[in-house]
Amino acid sequence: MAIFLDTGRIEEIEKYLKMDIIRGVTTNPTILVKSGVTGGMEGVKERSIQIANLIAPYPLSVEVTNNDPDGMLDQAREFAQWAENINVKITIHGPNGELDNLEVVHKLETDYDVRINVTAMMSAQQCFLAAMAGATYVSLFGGRVNNMGYNCIEEISKLRTLIDNFDLKAQIIIGSTREVLNIIEWLVSGAHIVTATPNLIEGMIIHPYSKETVQMFLNDAIKL
Ligand code: E4P
Repeated sequence: MAIFLDTGRIEEIEKYLKMDIIRGVTTNPTILVKSGVTGGMEGVKERSIQIANLIAPYPLSVEVTNNDPDGMLDQAREFAQWAENINVKITIHGPNGELDNLEVVHKLETDYDVRINVTAMMSAQQCFLAAMAGATYVSLFGGRVNNMGYNCIEEISKLRTLIDNFDLKAQIIIGSTREVLNIIEWLVSGAHIVTATPNLIEGMIIHPYSKETVQMFLNDAIKL
């Protein structure tokens, strides 16, 4: 799977899709606000369907906007009907540590056949339990883990070992990218997928010495 794009901006998605270097897109309410989405749930629906159609068959993650168990169930089932390639993000627990979420995840995956991306996780142990509950994707926020003073690479490698040893279906997504080097480092550490912001993908491609080298070729081409 490799690289997903962590954005709701159509022009950025189109740019990297045309190069065929991304394999999916992730969003959350904060990303959608930053990407200019307005108009409440109708706005979310419109942008999500637009992105899903653009990237199909690659997956798009859309996050629920409430933490009430019935509300999450209803919203997730609705989002999943917007397009076949939409999976639904549900946070590991509520803002005050409410524990309903993994039950909701299990129900959606097993009873309603909705693909779930469990999100906002900061440790291998959280991701492992989300994978045990049946999640299709488990999202660890690498940059936030590092900002707390821990090295997320250790969490990624422990998590990959657990997922492989217990033969769990979950794919590990590492989000919260902060630096260009995160992408390769985290993939090498065991992530199935890193979801990166568009500016970091550009940073992976462009190198000052490559620029200089290309300029040398172009200058000498004139002399030919
Ligand atoms: C990934 O799925 C998340 O939505 C995202 O990467 C979170 O990143 P942040 O820590 O920059 O909010």
